Amino acid sequence: MAAVKCPVVVLISGSGSNLQALIDAQHQQGFAAEIKAVISNVAGVKGLQRASQANIPTHVIPHQDYEDRESYDREVSRIIDQYAPGFILLAGFMRILSDWFVNHYKGKLLNIHPSLLPKYKGLNTHQQALDAGDEFHGATVHFVTPELDGGPLILQARVAVNPDDTASTLAARVLEKEHIIYPTVTQWAAQGRLRMRNNVVLLDGKPLAEPLWLENI
Ligand code: GRF
Repeated sequence: MAAVKCPVVVLISGSGSNLQALIDAQHQQGFAAEIKAVISNVAGVKGLQRASQANIPTHVIPHQDYEDRESYDREVSRIIDQYAPGFILLAGFMRILSDWFVNHYKGKLLNIHPSLLPKYKGLNTHQQALDAGDEFHGATVHFVTPELDGGPLILQARVAVNPDDTASTLAARVLEKEHIIYPTVTQWAAQGRLRMRNNVVLLDGKPLAEPLWLENI
């Protein structure tokens, strides 16, 4: 008998290449998560097509239709909760979340961010790494807490910065790593191996003093 999968809902705003990586992962035998729905705040984006092609239900909830952040988030949450997900995956969802939303899903909200957090929270991370002359740049999967891009870090992957890199060449190499680390962490989460307790990540019941590195797992 097939093992019961952990339902997840993915939130996007754009291209959805991370969503695609998750869809590809769930086609692999043994992947423990099942994407039950994809929600976008923007209509017509490629990520919605990717979901439809994979026969995943989609919902577009335009943020412009809501008068404040929390009323928007409450509507998103009303849709999310119909799927009773074990985890909610932010995958390029370009919205700041209300404290209400983050607290409602405490310990169930994951995000991927294109920098080696705690460096470069927010936007334009690739340009910031170039401007700083960093030798390495990368991506991080983390639990979401009310502090923007500030939740406990789970897994990171790094790429070397080349002298001739632009923000877009660097972004492309970072995305390749994102597409590995997000399904990896999702698998741990869906297998019940990952928890957040008192803002600390527990993997297999053991606190992570530092985030894991893709190179070392
Ligand atoms: C990724 O770089 C992700 O880290 C960031 O937004 C981008 C989304 O890309 N949060 P995609 O939509 O998954 O292609």
